[in-house]
Amino acid sequence: MSISQSFFRDIPLAPPDPILGITDAFAADTNPKKVNLGVGVYQDGQGRIPVLRTVREAEKRWLELENSKAYLPIDGLPAYRTGVQNLLFGAEHPFVKNGQLVTAQTLGGTGGLRMGADFLKRFLPQSEIWVSSPTWENHRAVFEAAGLKVNDYPYYDPETRGLAFGKMTAALRQLPAASIVLLHACCHNPTGVDLDRGQWQELTALFKQQNLVPFIDLAYQGLAEGIEQDAFAVRTFAESGVPVVVSSSFSKSFSLYRERVGAVTLVTASADEAKRAASQLKRVIRTSYSNPSSHGAQVVALILGDAELRASWEAELADMRERILRMRSLFVQKLATKQQTRDFSFIEKQRGMFSYSGLDLPRVQRLRTEFGLYIVDSGRMCVAAMNENNIDYITDAIAKVV
Ligand code: LMR
Repeated sequence: MSISQSFFRDIPLAPPDPILGITDAFAADTNPKKVNLGVGVYQDGQGRIPVLRTVREAEKRWLELENSKAYLPIDGLPAYRTGVQNLLFGAEHPFVKNGQLVTAQTLGGTGGLRMGADFLKRFLPQSEIWVSSPTWENHRAVFEAAGLKVNDYPYYDPETRGLAFGKMTAALRQLPAASIVLLHACCHNPTGVDLDRGQWQELTALFKQQNLVPFIDLAYQGLAEGIEQDAFAVRTFAESGVPVVVSSSFSKSFSLYRERVGAVTLVTASADEAKRAASQLKRVIRTSYSNPSSHGAQVVALILGDAELRASWEAELADMRERILRMRSLFVQKLATKQQTRDFSFIEKQRGMFSYSGLDLPRVQRLRTEFGLYIVDSGRMCVAAMNENNIDYITDAIAKVV
């Protein structure tokens, strides 16, 4: 059958996604030794993306308990929303008790970012957003899709392979009031370079003074230092009296990627403000996807609401965090014995799933074509996908291209 005058005719081909496109290229590669260090997905010591034991147990329980497939509320499962707030602030925190928080369940952390951005665009229509240089490949696109103008601020210093804190604060000090600034609470994606506590406090004072709006991306709570420690940035901003928008995700911390378990949380000044903000956030969601899906949120809510399941999840989360740290050390150790051209010791200082390897595009491409080793074009590697079985292959390949 032929279709004439198709309006699809002039549509240009879009480039592959810089991260998920690598998973597609990896899947098509026939090299039996191939390794995917592209996408940020945790793999266990055997190279599997695990379904956590605690998740399986909660799923079994839910299978017995579920008695309806009715819609969830627009802003999601109430027990899940409470669980999100308790992880961000602790169940006894005055923000939780006073009803100052607005949380909506979203489709993953990306959904939290997009719903937060749509909300901000509606109520701060003149504001632009600033993201770190570099940042997660999708941030810019998500915010542009929400109609925000996206700019960047200095963050990473390639000389020291650390934080350019002085340049960062100098740039932020120049921003007009009500500018929105995207911050990574921990496990900075893609660099693995985070602020320390003193720097967060300094930044909070700056935001307060300049009247800036922090939009905090917390996609890795529990994978840097621990659940409480990783909430430091969110708590510090909010407790200093700055209104905050937080996007959070359980994709990584519960290994629930495809279940799309995320949230957006607004920290407001009063229960009354919260009520009005929540009503508007629900309108944003209703006109986007109406209401979220149930399964992943239900599993997370069951785990967070049951002392035994919660303890078991925390133990599994600690195992993931510690395994990543062991892989960082092993990677550095192995590369130091295999080549002396470059010092990779900085990788041990970074936190979270990613490391900014410092490898340039020609080297990244050689790794792909000659070795079937896939990392992101920027040189970002997912350390959480390394294990005792693939580490020699990975470090051999890198030693050959540096
Ligand atoms: C990543 O940065 O690799 C992950 O957050 C997955 C994604 O959606 O890009």
